[in-house]
Amino acid sequence: MPTVLVTGAGRGLGLEFVRQYSSAGWDIVACARDPLRSPELAALAAGGRIRIETLDVGDEASIRALTARLGERPLDVLLGCAGTMGQGSFATEGLDFGRFGNCEPGDWAEVYRVNVIGPMLMAEALVDNVARSAQKKIVTLTSVVGSIAGNTIGSLYKYRASKAALNAVMRSLSIDLARSHGIIASPLHPGWVRTEMGGPHAHLDAVTSVTGMRAVIDGLTPERAGRFWMYDGSELPW
Ligand SMILES: NC(=O)c1ccc[n+]([C@@H]2O[C@H](COP(=O)([O-])OP(=O)(O)OC[C@H]3O[C@@H](n4cnc5c(N)ncnc54)[C@H](OP(=O)(O)O)[C@@H]3O)[C@@H](O)[C@H]2O)c1
Repeated sequence: MPTVLVTGAGRGLGLEFVRQYSSAGWDIVACARDPLRSPELAALAAGGRIRIETLDVGDEASIRALTARLGERPLDVLLGCAGTMGQGSFATEGLDFGRFGNCEPGDWAEVYRVNVIGPMLMAEALVDNVARSAQKKIVTLTSVVGSIAGNTIGSLYKYRASKAALNAVMRSLSIDLARSHGIIASPLHPGWVRTEMGGPHAHLDAVTSVTGMRAVIDGLTPERAGRFWMYDGSELPW
């Protein structure tokens, strides 16, 4: 069976990916900052082919340590679900979240560390593991708010800017790693989903979003790499 490595696997969309890939019989490397804080992940691991790993995607040493523990293990899908909005929350503040006049450099740096630098370091650290697999895919969850063409409402500065930067990273990875390693890379928007981040008023449940995203990931081909996909298979403007 193929292997997927999931970051942010302790809750939210990452946890739902673990649940669904586990039901489908995949081997899973489930990475969480503090796995002990997720009884749901422990319960899933008790019954499936799931290896739990501690990983902070914002910490280069943590990424290096994980890479050493994985050794030469092939990874069919490197799936980045870890993400943060930093201080504040769109779910509770709406367009007041990250509004103009509130730039706090330390908070911005933390959001960039997790949302942008983390996926870049993960790709650099694990590119050979992905290249060694049959499917050779790197997918990172981004957001429609990272679309510059689609931004008609403003605000959300730090989170929006981090996801636009992540989109740029994923686009470049899709070009460079296709040439060097035959890897298919793409950003993927989950829709607005009822998780801790999305809040209770979001449109979708995690099951629907992840079911759709798994289909998009399954359908990724070299021709479909490096494009901005949504959970339902539609394509978003950059
Ligand atoms: N939900 C939505 O509506 C929505 C919409 C668009 C995009 N997204 C994106 O989808 C992804 C998953 O979001 P979600 O809704 O599942 O959010 P969530 O419920 O808030 O979960 C966020 C996950 O990221 C992990 N995380 C945060 N910082 C981390 C770090 N430094 N190292 C490792 N893991 C870290 C969290 O782990 P801890 O438990 O340790 O904090 C948690 O597992 C994110 O990238 C988000 O930006 C979500």
